[in-house]
Parts: sequence; C-alpha cells; structure tokens
Amino acid sequence: MNILKCPVCGQELYNENKTWRCANKHSYDIAKEGYVNLLSAHKKGDVIGDNKEMALSRKDFLNKGYYRSLANTVTECLDKYSDDGENVLDICCGEGYYTAFAAERLNRSFYGFDLSKNMVRLAAKRKINAEFFVANIASIPVKDSSVKAAFHLFAPFHASEFRRVIADDGVIITAIPGKEHLLGMKEILYDEPYLNDEKEPLADGLKPIERIRVKEEISLYCREDINALFKMTPYYYHTPTDGMNRLSECEKLDTTIDFVLIVYRRQT
Ligand SMILES: C[S@@+](CC[C@H](N)C(=O)[O-])C[C@H]1O[C@@H](n2cnc3c(N)ncnc32)[C@H](O)[C@@H]1O
Ligand SMILES: [Zn+2]
Repeated sequence: MNILKCPVCGQELYNENKTWRCANKHSYDIAKEGYVNLLSAHKKGDVIGDNKEMALSRKDFLNKGYYRSLANTVTECLDKYSDDGENVLDICCGEGYYTAFAAERLNRSFYGFDLSKNMVRLAAKRKINAEFFVANIASIPVKDSSVKAAFHLFAPFHASEFRRVIADDGVIITAIPGKEHLLGMKEILYDEPYLNDEKEPLADGLKPIERIRVKEEISLYCREDINALFKMTPYYYHTPTDGMNRLSECEKLDTTIDFVLIVYRRQT
C-alpha cells in the first residue's frame, strides 16, 4: 500500500511515469536521485535545512559506525513492533544512515523524509529499498493511520502528527540523550561539564511502553571525526572559544555515548 498523500489537497498520490500525481492533477517530479519533493509551498532551488557540507559531514561520521549500537537497537525495536511488509517511517531521516541500516536488515516498506533537500538527496543516493521525500514534520504528507512503526532521531518532536500517521496499534520510537552522552567531549569543552537531564518530550496521545538504554565507550582517532561529531552537537553553537580550541587540538577522543530509546504506543 502506498502511504503518500498530496500536500495540497490530501488525495492519495500515485506514481506514474517518474511523477507522483493525485486525482486533482497536482504533480510532483521524481528527482534523478529518486526522491520526491513534497514541499509544495517552496520553490524549486530553495535551500532549507542543513547545508551540503553539514549533510556530508554527518554522513561520513555515521558511516564510520560510531553510532552503530544505536542503529542496531532501533532496528531490533522495529523488528519487535512491526511485521514483514508493513510500512515503517523514518521521520526527519537526515542523510538516511538509520533508514539504510534498518532497510538492509528488515523486510519492511521503508519511507524516510526530511525538510532538508540536501539530506534527502544523500539518503536517496544510498540506493536502498526505501522511498524518500522532502517534507515538513508539521504537515507530514502521509495518510492517517498508515504506518505500523515510525522512528524519529534527534529532530523536532511533533506528537499530534506522529499520532495521526501511526496505526491504532502502531508505535513511534524516539531517542533522547542519556545522562552521560558525550561526557568525554564535554569534559574537554567545559570547565564544569554537566550531565544531561534525560527530559522526555511532551507526547500527548502517545503512551511510553518501553525504554531502552544504549550506552558504550567509543574512541575517535582523528581530528576530522572529532570535528564532525562536534558539529553534530548543540555545543557547536554555544561553546566558549577556549573550549573549542582545546577540542581542536585533540588527536584522539574517548567518550561515552549514551542514549535512551523510548517506544510510544498510540493511545486511542
Ligand atoms: C540532527 S539531524 C538528525 C537526522 C537523522 N534522524 C539522524 O539521526 O541522522 C535533524 C534533522 O531534522 C531535520 N529537520 C529539522 N526540522 C525539520 C522539520 N520541520 N521537518 C522535517 N525535518 C526537519 C533536519 O533537516 C535534519 O536532517
Ligand atoms: Zn492534490
């Protein structure tokens, strides 16, 4: 079953000759990389979301496997809460690392979307068994109750849209940083590093049914990877210069990674 709906009129979209169309003749071209831009309000060529450099840096870092344990646990969760052939949605998929990891291991119909065309283009270039589209989380162009399991990692949370797109017995899996996430990096950046508060997002209409901690020690052995990780964090935007300088001099970084995966079931 195709889950996409027209962002203008809400009618089902169907794929015809490299174009997605609805019954009301709205049409959306499939880009050469294979994704479709369903952000109707924006003109072609607009740059929205992360730029190309950020997208590539994130892709290179994740492809090296530093967060593999998280990808593995997300995949195990999807396996537990959905069955073969069912629809799975990666909400704010970025450049598709986690979508690809799961799609290579599970027999599901995978869909991923993100606001950033640069990110979605990289995801589509992975040539995996998944459909990718550009869309805004505030108005996901996906039919009501059409998704058995969705996952959502490190991106804005939108409980009402999550609740709308997941099936009655469906789940959404999200991740928050655990107490000690990147503590090793923070000890270099700050004189008094604090622990994360593990604050869970407000999720009206969604009931947490499982929490899984994913925690391990990782080592980064080059400046390029340390810098890529730093750029992926909020600390990149508000660290005093002396802390940044200390980090930029590091040839090696040992740090804890610590995540809490939360599985929410849709409340009827
Ligand atoms: C930190 S990245 C995480 C990407 C991916 N989930 C991952 O973990 O690799 C956050 C992503 O959210 C996307 N994003 C931010 N605001 C968005 C919105 N309103 N709608 C859709 N995507 C959005 C960004 O473009 C970016 O790719
Ligand atoms: Zn339409």
